[in-house]
Amino acid sequence: MSDTFAALVIDKEDKTVSTEIRQLTLEDLPEGDVLVDIAYSTVNYKDGLAVTGSMPIVREYPMVGGIDLAATVVESSNAAYAPGDKVLVNGFGLSENRWGGYAQKQRLKSEWLVKVPEAFSLEEVAAIGTAGYTAMLCVMAIQDWGVSPDTGPVLVTGAAGGVGSVAVMLLAKLGYKVTAATGRVDEAGDFLKKLGAEALIARDELARDSKPLERETWAAVVDTVGANTLATALAQTRYEGIVAACGLAGGAALPASVMPFILRGVTLRGIDSVMAPLPRRQRAWNELAQLIDHDLLATIYSVEPLSKVPELARDILAGHIKGRVVVDVNT
Ligand SMILES: NC(=O)c1ccc[n+]([C@@H]2O[C@H](COP(=O)([O-])OP(=O)(O)OC[C@H]3O[C@@H](n4cnc5c(N)ncnc54)[C@H](OP(=O)(O)O)[C@@H]3O)[C@@H](O)[C@H]2O)c1
Repeated sequence: MSDTFAALVIDKEDKTVSTEIRQLTLEDLPEGDVLVDIAYSTVNYKDGLAVTGSMPIVREYPMVGGIDLAATVVESSNAAYAPGDKVLVNGFGLSENRWGGYAQKQRLKSEWLVKVPEAFSLEEVAAIGTAGYTAMLCVMAIQDWGVSPDTGPVLVTGAAGGVGSVAVMLLAKLGYKVTAATGRVDEAGDFLKKLGAEALIARDELARDSKPLERETWAAVVDTVGANTLATALAQTRYEGIVAACGLAGGAALPASVMPFILRGVTLRGIDSVMAPLPRRQRAWNELAQLIDHDLLATIYSVEPLSKVPELARDILAGHIKGRVVVDVNT
């Protein structure tokens, strides 16, 4: 075992956020009952915010970024985990107040770990990552609400992004008729159709001032965008339909009316992946293992080196990333 290992550290001085690859030692790592060798992390929208300092995601500096990790256990004082076990972590404060996945080693609390389902490699669970697991949480909310493929069409906003592309893939696999809303109809239209979208609509059709109630269209919605897009989606949701809201890529405001709630019985369901309890995570990962088509998954991500994370962080905030980005922390 080499004495030092690489980590991408986010730091802040005089209100300026910077990143640097540093060599750390095991003594530098935080406390925890499991030590892991990390194979992969990822770049999510939240990583973009944390790495660039565009939003106060990081609460304590210096911070090892990366809200996801896929890793192999090296040491564990919890009998539930043994050296060689393949594990993953999504969220649980990584890159906020706990050191995360942009490092070759990490010490973690065993209660954050999910065992990698046998169906997946470490690279594949990273390709799914927080974005894909959140997409699954949204789909579970829609299913649990009782919306079936026969109920009516489902809208996915921000569809060419990480959460959106996996949501399209999962819903299509389950037999739902998916309409994908994207700002990149020309560039990403074929990509979304291959993932199973039946129809495409331009982002601008939703990102506008809406009426309190518009034509009842969607049985359910997965919204990754927020702001006026979410307000329009609510106004177009059918009687007793559901909107699973998980994102703010278009803004955190919600300029909406109560009319969809009180006249159509529409449900707005908030989705949080970060602190979701372990049984729900386990269910999501078990369902992902059943639903993900490995060949299709391979078409939605690229693998990039740790040194490229700052550039990718800027790219994801600019809306330039299609699908998912896996970070190989050992290159
Ligand atoms: N609640 C949770 O636990 C949770 C978990 C994961 C992610 N999230 C949130 O979900 C959102 C998506 O995350 P992600 O990792 O999938 O990010 P992403 O890959 O960047 O996807 C976001 C997508 O939203 C669309 N978009 C970007 N800027 C927009 C704008 N100004 N107006 C309208 N649409 C815009 C783009 O899709 P098109 O090009 O197709 O339009 C973009 O690809 C983020 O806000 C993230 O913070 C929340």
